[in-house]
Amino acid sequence: MENIAIAIDGPAASGKSTVAKTLAKRLGLIMVNTGAMYRAVAWATIQKDVDPADSEAVIKMLGEVEFSCGVSDNLSTILVDGVDPGDALRQDAVNQRVSKVAAIPEVRELLVQRQRDYLQLGSVVMEGRDIGSVVFPDTPFKIYIDASEEVRRQRRAAEGIVDELGKRDEEDSKRKTAPLVVAEGAVKIDSSELSIEQVIERVLEILKERGAPA
Ligand code: DC
Repeated sequence: MENIAIAIDGPAASGKSTVAKTLAKRLGLIMVNTGAMYRAVAWATIQKDVDPADSEAVIKMLGEVEFSCGVSDNLSTILVDGVDPGDALRQDAVNQRVSKVAAIPEVRELLVQRQRDYLQLGSVVMEGRDIGSVVFPDTPFKIYIDASEEVRRQRRAAEGIVDELGKRDEEDSKRKTAPLVVAEGAVKIDSSELSIEQVIERVLEILKERGAPA
């Protein structure tokens, strides 16, 4: 059978990573965290002392640094010149830079190709901002998970992470290339008042309605 892609998009701290991870585990699919790929590029700009707002310098860096994407335990992995940045991908300095590098079309082109390549390895649950709109526009399985800003801020605070969510969401939504949008044909779920389990159940219903293989 042909491999399928389940696209899960939404703003920061909407709960989409946890939902995607749980869903992938339950269905035995590969979970691809595309935010980590943009974060790896942002992290590389710190290592190489490149200004993330200087798109020419970032593009030059893409030619000099090797980003290798793989899978471990059914989860996507990314190495930067052979190094796993690990928890450093979630540090404040990366949060501050990531929307800037993610707005550069050449960065997106490179990473979107890597994201599509995952489908050759198996069926995927892929989470990000533009999966349903750009990476896999033809998939019938598109979910957009949202939550109020208040709830998202509380979730980040509970994780002990400093993240200027509002600013990052604004940058992600307003950029010219592949902004955060509800993709055509996507089903929107507001997770503000729902538990993870309730969101998962709703997603499973949608997949069934749309004819996903069980
Ligand atoms: O999901 P996240 O918060 O880890 O994503 C980090 C940043 O990466 C986010 O602020 C915007 C960017 N991103 C993107 O532009 N497109 C994606 N498909 C995923 C993330």
